[in-house]
Parts: sequence; C-alpha cells; structure tokens
Amino acid sequence: MDITEARSEFPVTRTCAFMNHAAVAPLSQRAVNAMRGLLDDLLANGDQNSKQWDLAVQRTRELAAQLINASPSEIAFVKNTTEGIAHVANGFPWSPGDNVVVTNVEFPANVYPWLNLADRGVETRFVKEKAGRIPFEDISDAIDSRTRIVSLSYVEFVSGFRNDLGRLGELCRKRGALFVVDAIQGLGVLKLDVQECGVDFLSADGHKWLLAPEGAGVFFCSNRVADRLRVSEMGWMAVQNAGDYLRYPQPPRTDARRFECGSHNTLGLHGLGAAIDLLLEVGIPNIERRVLALTDRLCDGLARKGYHIFSSRREGEKSGIVSFHKPGQDTRALFQRLRAEKIIVALREGFIRVSPHFYNSDDEIDRLLAALP
Ligand SMILES: Cc1ncc(COP(=O)(O)O)c(C=O)c1O
Repeated sequence: MDITEARSEFPVTRTCAFMNHAAVAPLSQRAVNAMRGLLDDLLANGDQNSKQWDLAVQRTRELAAQLINASPSEIAFVKNTTEGIAHVANGFPWSPGDNVVVTNVEFPANVYPWLNLADRGVETRFVKEKAGRIPFEDISDAIDSRTRIVSLSYVEFVSGFRNDLGRLGELCRKRGALFVVDAIQGLGVLKLDVQECGVDFLSADGHKWLLAPEGAGVFFCSNRVADRLRVSEMGWMAVQNAGDYLRYPQPPRTDARRFECGSHNTLGLHGLGAAIDLLLEVGIPNIERRVLALTDRLCDGLARKGYHIFSSRREGEKSGIVSFHKPGQDTRALFQRLRAEKIIVALREGFIRVSPHFYNSDDEIDRLLAALP
C-alpha cells in the first residue's frame, strides 16, 4: 500500500494534519465500515445474525494474536488498558512484603492498580526517569528477592522512550519476576513479539496506534504463566460451557477468555478487527520504518530551529512520540496556535507532543515545522 492509498483510508487527512495518535486516533474508513455493517444489521435484524458477530470477534482475536505473535487462546478482550493490568494486580497471589517495580513516569493506568494493593502489604517501587530515559540498570537495581512483577510501558507516554522489552524480559526471567507491559503507546506502530521478549502479560486499548475505537482492548496472558492468576472478575462467560446457563457451578475456562466476564463490546471489536487487518496489510516493520523516518525528519527540523527535544532519539530508544519545547516560550499558546492552523498535536507536561502515524506525510511534518517560531 503506497502513501496515497494509505491516506485515502483516513478521511481525517482532508480536514487537518492529525499527528496526535498517542492520544485518541482517528478511525480508518474500513474500521468504520466494519462497525457500520454491524449497526445496520442490528437496525434491520436484531440479534438474528449473532453467530456471524461471534465469528467476527473470533477473527479479531486471531488478528490480535498474530499482531504480537501469541496464540488466540492467550488473548482476552478488555474494556481498556487499565482493566488488563488490574487483572494481573488483583489476580496475583501476593504475600505481604512483596513488591512491584514501575517507573515514576508511567501513565496512571499502570500505577493505580498497583497502589491499590498497599492494604495487602504490597509495595509499589518507582524507578526514576533520568533526562527522558529509563536506565535499564536502574530497573535492575530496583528488583530484589521480593519483587514479583515488573510492569512498564513499552513506550513512555510523555517522553516517548522505548523500553527494551527483550532485555527487560530476560532480566525478569533471570530474577524470577513476571513481566507486564502496558503496550498502548507501541502496539500498532512498533514491532512487538511477546515470545521473543518474554512478556508474561500485556494490555492495550485500541484507541491509539491501533487506530481502533475506545473500549476495545487486548489483554495477553501467556500460556506459560496462565495458572499464576486467579480470576478477579468472575462472570458467566468465563466458564467452560457458558451457553449451558443453568448448569452451575462450572469451572472457569483455562485459556485467557476466563478474563472475559460477560458480553463483549461487539461493535468495538468489529472496528478493532478491521483496524488490525489494515495494520497487518501495510506491515508493522514498514509502519515502524515510516514513523521513525517521519519523527527523524521532525527532530532534524526542530534542532535547526533551536528546540530542545526531550525524547531520546538514540537507536532502539526512539518511538512514534516526539516531545519538545523551547525554554522561555509559552508552550500552551503555541499549542493553541497549532490547533488553529489545523495541526493537531498534544500538550503534555510542558512539552508539545507530536505522534504521527504511517499515513502522515513529509509535507505535514514540514507544515508543523514551518508553523513553529
Ligand atoms: C501508556 C498509557 N497507558 C494507558 C493509557 C490509557 O489507559 P486506558 O486504556 O485504561 O484508558 C494511556 C493513555 O494516554 C497511556 O498513554
């Protein structure tokens, strides 16, 4: 798929230069068509075709598994990133004195589920960011014999720092901790292979780089460690024969679907399936290459204009997020001016945060650069 074809999938390109995929992404035409098809069906037929919806949900599960190199039996759908992380936090067999390692710059989705364990005697340890980076050695130093879980973002939401999942997965394995990844800022734009990286659990809602709607998220629970979690949100769909309604009690399912307590967000999952389909068609390696080229172009231009780039641009640490500012400049006023010029970015922690996807163009990057004083 070339860039013109890609852009035609995104009507948003006709109204603005949208480079805010780290917030809530626009939908593609095909994701909307998939959801519209279901809405029309509901409008005309009620639930008569529900078997077909189930097939579509199953297809989405297969696509999600393919995206991260997992098995469909390791995928549960969740309503957001937080819910997947909470499945781990609330289902793990903690003992008082245990700890979990996070960073002090996690999006709060990866903080509150852990802090909520304080009354069970579980300590949440915050590794400090240093100049926009999370040093691997600092994570290693924070782990001790009572560390049960290390939970990190694939890509940190303000700095865009890309944690080295492979190295961290190996570290966790060696130190006997489970590895949890909040993948929402990387999934759909950067390569992510849960097997290669030794990821135990992963969670990501659809609404950022996956280009899918809100409320349709993916929770990966590795078969390797499936028996380590208790189901904390038990429900009728989590049992082995959910259709046999009155034959209770039934044991929970043994695959990841035991984390799906009740009816699906079928509409959102139609959108998510079509969205992942598009990403796989373009190819994640191609998307990653393209987005890194766009952000490199942006950073070259920013440096020429004297901006301070907060995001690490070292190989292996860069991502689709670039955050910058110019000391002394009114960043909020600049952000608002860009909005007025239909250049959509975000303001985060005093920085302008830019997050282009594969269908953005060099021209859009240049337009942004030209608009910067
Ligand atoms: C790293 C990270 N995790 C999670 C979220 C969102 O969490 P949820 O899907 O639970 O709303 C965001 C949104 O900004 C994020 O940047």
